[in-house]
Amino acid sequence: MKMIGTVIVTQTTPNPSEFHFVITKDSKDFQLKRDMYIVVDTPEEEGKVIAQVKDIIKTNRYFSSPSAVKAYETSGKTLASIFPADSWEYIIAKAKALGIHTKQGVKRLQYPVSPGDNVFLADSNLLSKFLGLDQDNGLYIGKLEHHDIKVKLNLTRFLQKHLAILAISGAGKSYTVSVLLEELLNRKKEQGRIATILFDVHGEYKGLKETGAKINEQIEVISASYIQFATHSISAAQFANFQPDISPVQLRELYVVLGRMYNEKVKKGVSYTISDIMEEIENDERMNQRTKDALNGWLFELEKTKLFGVKEFPNLKEKTKPGKLLIIDLSDFTSLRQKQMIVSYTLSRLFELRKKSEIPPVSVILEEAHQFAPESKLSLAISRPIINTIAREGRKFFISLILISQRPVNLSTTTLSQCNTQIIMKIMNPYDLEFIGRTSEGIDRDTLNSITTLGVGEAIVVGNAVNHPIYVKIRERITKNLETKNLEQVAKNFDL
Ligand SMILES: Nc1ncnc2c1ncn2[C@@H]1O[C@H](COP(=O)(O)OP(=O)(O)OP(=O)(O)O)[C@@H](O)[C@H]1O
Ligand SMILES: [Mg+2]
Repeated sequence: MKMIGTVIVTQTTPNPSEFHFVITKDSKDFQLKRDMYIVVDTPEEEGKVIAQVKDIIKTNRYFSSPSAVKAYETSGKTLASIFPADSWEYIIAKAKALGIHTKQGVKRLQYPVSPGDNVFLADSNLLSKFLGLDQDNGLYIGKLEHHDIKVKLNLTRFLQKHLAILAISGAGKSYTVSVLLEELLNRKKEQGRIATILFDVHGEYKGLKETGAKINEQIEVISASYIQFATHSISAAQFANFQPDISPVQLRELYVVLGRMYNEKVKKGVSYTISDIMEEIENDERMNQRTKDALNGWLFELEKTKLFGVKEFPNLKEKTKPGKLLIIDLSDFTSLRQKQMIVSYTLSRLFELRKKSEIPPVSVILEEAHQFAPESKLSLAISRPIINTIAREGRKFFISLILISQRPVNLSTTTLSQCNTQIIMKIMNPYDLEFIGRTSEGIDRDTLNSITTLGVGEAIVVGNAVNHPIYVKIRERITKNLETKNLEQVAKNFDL
C-alpha cells in the first residue's frame, strides 16, 4: 500500500469518527481528492481502519497572519521572494472513519486512530471487500470514482430486493439500464441467470436487438399493439383496478359470476372473453337490472381497448426464461390508462407465476415509474396496487422491480421506500433531493449535497447492494449503436 500521510492532532480529532492527517511530501506524484478511500494501519488495534477523505485544506504558516502578509506586500517585495514560503505549504485532509476491517469482518470504530499513525491509499482488494463488491461474479456497472476498481455488484444483494434509478432527464438513467442489461444477458449459466422484462415506454431499447452484439439472440421485442390478456386469468379485484369506479356491490356480483365461470369453463379447460362475461351477467336471474347494466357498461368499455382475448400474447410463461430479455414496447400507445393496464396485467401474471415457481427469478424494469405508481391520489393509478404489492412482497418470491424515474417526489412512497438499493444520478430539484434524503436510509448530508454536482454518467450507489454509499462512473456500454438522435440530426433528416 502506498503511504500518503500521517495522522495529526487537532482540537477535537482524532476521535472515533474523524481524524485529520497531513500529506507527506514524498507523495506529490499523486493527488488526494475528496471522497477517496484511505487506510490507517493501527498498531494497537487488531485491524485496518478504512476512512474516506471529506475535506482537503491547504495551509501555509507564512500566510497565516494577515497583518504580516500586508506589511511585506506593501513594502514592494513578495513574501515568497524573501522566505522559502512555497516549501512551507502543506495539505491537511479531514477523513471520516467508516469502520475497521478485522479478521472477523467489518466493525464500527469505537476508538480513535493515534496521532502519528501512517495513512495509506486503500488497496483494491481490501476496499472491494470493505465496500461489499463481488469481484468474481458481480454485475460490472462501472469504476469506483478516484480509484482503479471495478464496481461489481453482487446479484443477490443488488436484485433480490428492488432497485430505483433516479435522476433528471439526460443524466444517464437509460444508459445505466442498458449497461445493466448487458451484464445480466452476458452472465454465464453457472453464475446464476435471471429473466428480465422491460417496459419500454419511449421505444428506446428495441434498438438493443439490432446492435449486432452477441446478446441479440437473447432479446425479444414485442409491440404493445399485439398484446392480449387471457381474460380468464383476470380476477374480479383486477377488473376493479381497471375500472376503479366499480362499487363494492357490483364487485361482489362480478366475483360471483367469475367464480361460476371458473367452475363451468376454466376447470374444463375452456377460456372465455369479455363478451362471454357480459352474456353471463345478462342471463343471471338473481342480479338486479341496475347492477347488470352498470357492470356490463364497465366491461363494454374495457372490451373496446381490444386488450382482452382468450389467449395470452405474449405467453409470459414461455417468454420469461433465464438469461433472456423480453422488451414490451409501449411507445405506440398514447393512452396512459392502457399502458397502465398492460403493466398491471403483466406484473400480476408474473407475480402469480413466480409464486408457483413456474418461471425463473425475474427482474422487471419500468421506465417512467412515477407514471405507473404515482404517489398522488389524484393521478390515474391502475398499476399502483400491484407495483406496491410486489414492492412489499416480491423479494420472498424472487421477483424484483427496477424503477426508473425523473420525478422521485411523484413516485409512490410505499414503493420507493422498498427500493433497497438506489442508483442516484444528477438531481437538481430541491423537492426531489429532500424527498430522497427522507426516503433513503444511509445517505448522509454530504452525499445528498453532492448529488447536484454529479456529471452525466456519474452515480451514487446506496443501499443494500453496497456496505457504504459509493460514487461510480458508469462504464461505457458494449452495444454502441443505440445512440439517441439529437435535434440537429432529426431536423436534417426531416423531409415531407
Ligand atoms: N455512462 C455514460 N457514458 C457515456 N455516455 C453516457 C453515459 N450515460 C449517459 N450518457 C449519454 O448521455 C445521454 C443521456 O443519457 P440517457 O438517455 O441515459 O438519459 P436519461 O437519464 O435516461 O434521460 P431521460 O430521463 O430523458 O430518459 C445519452 O446520449 C448518452 O449517450
Ligand atoms: Mg431515459
